[in-house]
Amino acid sequence: MIQATIRGLSKSYGKAMVINSLDLDIYKGEMLTIVGPSGCGKSTFLSCIAGLERVDDGTITIEDELVSSRNYFKLPEKRQIGLVFQNYALWPHKSVFENIAYPLRIKKECRNSIKNKVAKVIGIVRLVGKQKFYPHELSGGEKQRVALARALVMNPKILLLDEPLSNLDAKLREEMQYEIKHIQKDMNITIVHVTHDQHEAMGISDRIAVMNKGKLIQIGTPKEIYEDPKTKFVAKFIGKTNILCKCVKDHSQKNSLKLFKNTFMKDRWIEVSEGEKITLSIRPEDICLKKDKGMCKGVVKKVFYGGNKIEYIVCVENRNLMVQTSNKKKYEVGEEVYISINEIKVVKA
Ligand SMILES: Nc1ncnc2c1ncn2[C@@H]1O[C@H](COP(=O)(O)OP(=O)(O)OP(=O)(O)O)[C@@H](O)[C@H]1O
Ligand SMILES: [Mg+2]
Repeated sequence: MIQATIRGLSKSYGKAMVINSLDLDIYKGEMLTIVGPSGCGKSTFLSCIAGLERVDDGTITIEDELVSSRNYFKLPEKRQIGLVFQNYALWPHKSVFENIAYPLRIKKECRNSIKNKVAKVIGIVRLVGKQKFYPHELSGGEKQRVALARALVMNPKILLLDEPLSNLDAKLREEMQYEIKHIQKDMNITIVHVTHDQHEAMGISDRIAVMNKGKLIQIGTPKEIYEDPKTKFVAKFIGKTNILCKCVKDHSQKNSLKLFKNTFMKDRWIEVSEGEKITLSIRPEDICLKKDKGMCKGVVKKVFYGGNKIEYIVCVENRNLMVQTSNKKKYEVGEEVYISINEIKVVKA
């Protein structure tokens, strides 16, 4: 079921077009994560949904109700959208209880209703016993949970999270990621989440939307985005990859694909017409190394020990390839190895 529909959304600041004709459906109860390089328009996009920014063109519809268009603008406080930013923005002189209760007081809800609603979200974000604490008496993770509770207490139609965990240390961030995921599934709320942390995006999202320069480049499940990137940009942005440009099919080598200068691969994965130039993406873990046989020879240039895996830079016909293997077999810098490629994707250049 669709919770929100965005069509042809455009937004400029002066001459700079920050969101460029963006189309997106947000499903009810999903965790949709938006990733993209700094400055590509992620926060602006969330601000348009929340109503903190007006749009220049296009429409935003939430639960079948138009909230933004070129000529129409519904005020943010009337949209029932929750928003949590990177900096917690808690009131320093208000207790945890009062910080969370604040939006309900603004709405002039009755005392009993406030008490019940705040108690409920305090339980959900696991802050029971901290109601009377002040922000300076809380850890970073606890403050972030207060901010989350304050957004949840309004029972938002959509909860927007703009890098809410980036101030936390790695371990706490991971704990909070799973907590947010848990809350989302438990309450069946729709979350649109912006993060720079790929691991986080892969781990907790139902879908990932990859943005670049104000455009939506690809949207799909984490598995689809990682295993089937449509463009070179997506392949490089999500995870590590080797990009081989201008590969062509070569008749002289029995319909094989020319990978490097002297390396041809039987065309078993790819439909390409003769002479067509294509771009390939090969994930480091899809290349395997062997001592005695393989598609072609290379020389190990660098070795990075990573605990449960080893990463190599292997030079093949003057090209450096990233290779990732388990930590079982270890090759040394300068050693000759054979490479074989298990999986390869054609991407848009
Ligand atoms: N109020 C504003 N006035 C003028 N330009 C702005 C304004 N807000 C954002 N921009 C510009 O719009 C572009 C997109 O900004 P935005 O904050 O949406 O990027 P982002 O993808 O969230 O980046 P980051 O990952 O660094 O947070 C940037 O180039 C920024 O300078
Ligand atoms: Mg941002």
